[in-house]
Amino acid sequence: MTSILFVCLGNICRSPAAEGVLRHMVQNDPDLKDIHIQSCGMGSWHVGQLPDDRIRYAAKNRGIDLISKAQIFDPSFFEKFDYIFAVDDEVLHHLYKYAKTPEQKAKINLLTAYSQCYPNENIPDPFYQGDAAFDYVLDMVEDACEGFITYLKKNKN
Ligand code: 4NP
Repeated sequence: MTSILFVCLGNICRSPAAEGVLRHMVQNDPDLKDIHIQSCGMGSWHVGQLPDDRIRYAAKNRGIDLISKAQIFDPSFFEKFDYIFAVDDEVLHHLYKYAKTPEQKAKINLLTAYSQCYPNENIPDPFYQGDAAFDYVLDMVEDACEGFITYLKKNKN
């Protein structure tokens, strides 16, 4: 089993989008059956809430339902997950602070690390932006997830 965690600030826009997009991409792929995907936020403001209506609407337009409930990051996640993806440098920095061992640090990466079109770019926080910002989050997340799937398939044993 491969387990993947996406992390943003509020867990209501960017990381639930990544969770839904990756799940959607792997669901009918026989090579990627045994994958566990979750997301969380660094802040507790929205714990228990569904993703923001604006990202749910933008994802629905691409045929993807976002139905996760927000949860806060817990250091125990370093043991539960193989890959821990941060949406931007700020979140990356928070995660590195929590990581206690080189093994834990090695699990952390930027979500766009495997992206072809947006390599190592920050995914901008759309919360105080207009609708186009939510579509842009999905453009970036889809490209990043495609790149990560390619990587996973190449490195599958
Ligand atoms: P997210 O966006 O980190 O992509 O979920 C945010 C949502 C809410 C807040 C910040 C970012 N907030 O400050 O409430």
